[in-house]
Amino acid sequence: MALSMEQRIEQLRIKRAELLLGGGADKLEKHRASGKLTARERVDAVVDPGSFVETGLFAQHRATMFGMEGKETPADGVVTGAASVGGRLIHLASQDFTVLGGSAGELHSTKVSDAMQQSLKTGSPFVFINDSGGARVQEGIDALSGYGKVFYSNVQLSGAVPQVSLICGPCAGGAAYSPALTDFIIQTRKAQLFITGPSVIKQVTGENVTADDLGGPDAHMTRSGVIHFIAEDDQHAALICKKLLSFLPSNNLEDPPYVPGDYTCDPDHTLDSIVPVDPKLSYDVREVLVRVVDNADFLEVQAGYAGNIVIGFARVCGRSVGIIANNPAVKAGVLDIDSSDKASRFIRFCNAFNVPLVTFVDVPGFLPGVEQEYGGIIRHGAKMLFAYSAATVPKVTVILRKAYGGAYIAMCCKDLGADRSYAWPTAEIAVMGAEGAAGIVFRKEIEAAADKKAKRAEMIEQYREAFANPTVAAGRRLVDDIIEPSMTRKFIAQSLEYLNTKRELRPSKKHGLIPL
Ligand code: HXC
Repeated sequence: MALSMEQRIEQLRIKRAELLLGGGADKLEKHRASGKLTARERVDAVVDPGSFVETGLFAQHRATMFGMEGKETPADGVVTGAASVGGRLIHLASQDFTVLGGSAGELHSTKVSDAMQQSLKTGSPFVFINDSGGARVQEGIDALSGYGKVFYSNVQLSGAVPQVSLICGPCAGGAAYSPALTDFIIQTRKAQLFITGPSVIKQVTGENVTADDLGGPDAHMTRSGVIHFIAEDDQHAALICKKLLSFLPSNNLEDPPYVPGDYTCDPDHTLDSIVPVDPKLSYDVREVLVRVVDNADFLEVQAGYAGNIVIGFARVCGRSVGIIANNPAVKAGVLDIDSSDKASRFIRFCNAFNVPLVTFVDVPGFLPGVEQEYGGIIRHGAKMLFAYSAATVPKVTVILRKAYGGAYIAMCCKDLGADRSYAWPTAEIAVMGAEGAAGIVFRKEIEAAADKKAKRAEMIEQYREAFANPTVAAGRRLVDDIIEPSMTRKFIAQSLEYLNTKRELRPSKKHGLIPL
């Protein structure tokens, strides 16, 4: 006899409850005991309470070999669906390690790429929470094909909707490439991310390395530059993700959310004494940034990588901005290969998502050295020139102190399209530092002098007097105004307001060719 509706509903409830347990109560308990949240708990940590609508709970693999025949894989090891974060729609996928180690089979990956396509169609960010042993080995090339679909979707979404990856467990082999194709990677201290694991490296190269040393968050933050944030645990990763999304529009056709408030721009006189007048003395540029942005709230991106440049998100009078700032506290704030890569990528992200760029300049130049030249500083430094020149969002530049040579240009000078450029009275805009310049321009005079040392000092002073202030640059209109440091926030806020409707058209083409 056919089952009644009541019986069917009861069966459905039992089945749903079973599927929601993923790999089962024991595996969930083991997973929690390792200090991690489960796939569903991670979703709850990211999204607004009660907003998550799951799709594909009943998804089931169709593999038959290697013990897969009849094997249940709830949701096929990945929780997918839509939810809201801060009241705005997102789509997401969260891999369930309790189901075959979160391994990605054909259906698993199809679910992920379908959720990504929903992001694209609805103009909503995509969040991918990774915890997986990689391609599901039992499914062979079908698993590879699934990954291919995910990568393809990553690229389709790129520049159209923000993509954020959370790495909360293992993320090995090809699995590392989906996060790599997204805009931001947040890695927890319990996660490892690598292409080739320690045992294979040992076989191939003989090198001994632990999984944490190879692919832990410290390695990726300080050495490889692959990740953007380190999270202490899953909850922390979710917090970073939510905060990051709060600065961003849902897609490339929208502006970032404006946060209304009663903003003041009173002069902050502590700014008058942060930057030492002596160009040889250093300071931490973040001391300046927190005094300029709303509520001293600055979300630094890649804080542990190439610290000679600081990048991150903040708001000025409620408007999201992307900040790029040389940091004299690290390597004198010089531009080198890594800092150029770091900043260029960030500039392009901001431009793609309509986030205005605010640049703070105190740069002695590009880093000289054989290693830098062999490493391709020409190619990498050119990325800065390209990224800033190509950016059509509002661009506001504040020159705090040194702005020398090519690095002055690369830090968004007027000629690269800065809409507003302001200089502090300490600004020195010059082709190079006075010491180097005097050695070239006055070489003959110095050599001919009886007291070479004194002559050299005199010539350095002469050159410095000519260029160690922003007046010459302001005279040439290379800066729009010379401002008091205490008024910086006001000038930036006004500029952003007046530039809010900025529209700049460029020649139509498939895409420019940034020197990658
Ligand atoms: C199928 C897998 C799996 C995988 C793990 N499991 N990885 N099943 N395919 N890739 C299963 C395990 O068999 C086990 O099942 C369960 O998940 C938990 O795994 P454990 O090993 O018990 O857990 P743990 O000790 O925490 O180790 C986790 C791990 C390890 C480090 C991820 O499982 C591991 O090294 N897995 C293989 C990683 C790997 O080589 N991936 C690359 C695949 S090839 P039971 O039933 O016992 O609970 C690839 C190429 C893709 O990714 C290229 C795309 C372009």
